[in-house]
Amino acid sequence: MKTIIEPHRVKMVEPIRLTDRDERERLIEKAHYNLFLLHAEDVIIDLLTDSGTSAMSSEAWGAMMRGDESYAGARSWYRFRDTVKDIFGFEQVVPTHQGRAAERILFSVMVQPGSIVPNNTHFDTTRANIEFCGGKALDLPCAEAADLESDAPFKGNMDIDALEKLVAEEGREKIPLIMVTITNNSGGGQPVSMANIREISRIARDADIPFYVDACRFAENAYFIKLREPGFENRTVIDIAREIFALADGCTMSAKKDAFANIGGFLCTNDAELAQRERNILILTEGFPTYGGLAGRDLEAIAVGLREILDEHYLDYRLLSTRYVVNGLLDSGIPVVAPAGGHAVYLDARRFLPHLDPLQYPGQSLAVELYIEAGIRGCEIGTVMFGMNPHSGEEQPARSDLVRLAIPRRVYTQSHMDYVLEAIQYVWERREAIRGMRIVKAPQFLRHFTAYFDWL
Ligand code: F0G
Repeated sequence: MKTIIEPHRVKMVEPIRLTDRDERERLIEKAHYNLFLLHAEDVIIDLLTDSGTSAMSSEAWGAMMRGDESYAGARSWYRFRDTVKDIFGFEQVVPTHQGRAAERILFSVMVQPGSIVPNNTHFDTTRANIEFCGGKALDLPCAEAADLESDAPFKGNMDIDALEKLVAEEGREKIPLIMVTITNNSGGGQPVSMANIREISRIARDADIPFYVDACRFAENAYFIKLREPGFENRTVIDIAREIFALADGCTMSAKKDAFANIGGFLCTNDAELAQRERNILILTEGFPTYGGLAGRDLEAIAVGLREILDEHYLDYRLLSTRYVVNGLLDSGIPVVAPAGGHAVYLDARRFLPHLDPLQYPGQSLAVELYIEAGIRGCEIGTVMFGMNPHSGEEQPARSDLVRLAIPRRVYTQSHMDYVLEAIQYVWERREAIRGMRIVKAPQFLRHFTAYFDWL
C-alpha cells in the first residue's frame, strides 16, 4: 500500500484554534515578526521543534501514574536506570532534567580553557556549554554535507581525515573528548553511518581520547543505518543502537527527542571515578543522583518511551512521513535539503528567495510568510541565528539560510503534512513578491530568540 498510516490510534485530542490570514497578519506584527514571540495558541501547525513536543502513549501515561516520588532510591529510578543500561550499555547513568544539563555537567568535568572538542556538527547548546568552560567547539562535517542537494546517504558523517589530522596535531592533551551527534541536527538532520562511527572510535581509542555520542535522535539514526548501510538490513534497531554505543565511552541524551518525553535527559559513562565527579556537580544544581531534577513520573515516562522509540513500525512511519514532505517539495521544484532527514524538513531559503541578499534574512522572511499564509511556525536557521559575531559586532552571511520545520513525534497526521505541503507550494508560487526583512533591535547574544524585525 502506498498510503502512509500512523501506527497508532488517537485516544485524546487537543483542539487547534484556527485563525485566518488577516488575524495572523495582526498577530505576527504584534510579535515583531519573531515567531518565538507568538502565543502558541495562535499557531495552527507548530513545527518550531521536535523537542519535548511528542505525544506520549497510553502506556507511558499509565506508567506516570505509578511514578514513585521517593527522594532517594525510588522504584522509578531503577526502572529508568535499567532501561538506559539495557539499550545504551554504559555502566554509569546520571539522570538530568534535559540534554543541555548533561552537557554542562560533562564539560565542566572534562573541558579546560584551551581544550578543543571536535564533533560532526555541534548543536548550539553543546557549543555554548563548551565555550562557557573556555574550550573551543570544532565542527568537522564531511565534504558531502556542503552540498544541500546531493542524495548521499550519510551526509551527517564526520570528516575522518580532518579528525585524524587534528588528533595528530593536538593530541589528547588538548582534546579531552571527541563527540559525534546522531542524527546531525545542525547539519540538516542527516544520519551518521556505522562505518563512520567505527572510524571515529578507532581514532579515539588509538589516541586514548574518550569518545561520546550526542544520542538525542539515536533511534532514527539506527533505523537509517538499517535502511541504507549494506550489512545492516537484517539487524534489529536495538541491536544497531547497542553496537553504536559499544563503540563509545559515554553519551549525552535529551529524552525530549527519541524517548517521547516532555522533559528529561541523562549522561552515561563507563568511568566510575568520572561519574562520581559528575554526581557531585549534579547534586549542586539538578538533584540527588537517583532523580537528577526529574519527578519519578518523568523517569517512568522515559523508561517506556525508550522502548517504544525502537519499534520499527513507528520508525518506518516516522522516516516515511518526513520523506513524503521532502519528496513532495522536490516534485514541485521547491529547494529543500535532500535527502530527507529524520526529524525535520529544511527549506533552502536562499534558493527559495534568490532575489534577497542573505543580510535581508531570506530564512526569516520565508518563515514569517509561512505563518501568515497558513499559521505554520518554523524556525530560521541562518544569518539571523549565526550571522552576528557578538564580540566584534560584525555581521556576515551564515553558511546557509534555512527554515527548519521540525516534526513533533506522533502529534500531527498525514493530513496535517498535506496541509504543510500545500502551504509551502502556495508561498512558492508567489515567491517573487516576498520582501526581505531588517532587524529593528536585537540583544548581543542569541539574538534570534528575542529580536524585533520589520519588512524592508
Ligand atoms: N543535542 C542536540 C543534537 C539537540 O538537538 C538538542 C536540542 C540538544 C542537544 C539539547 O537538548 O533541549 O534537552 O537541552 N535540540 C532542540 C531542537 C532544542 O529544537 O533541535 P535539550
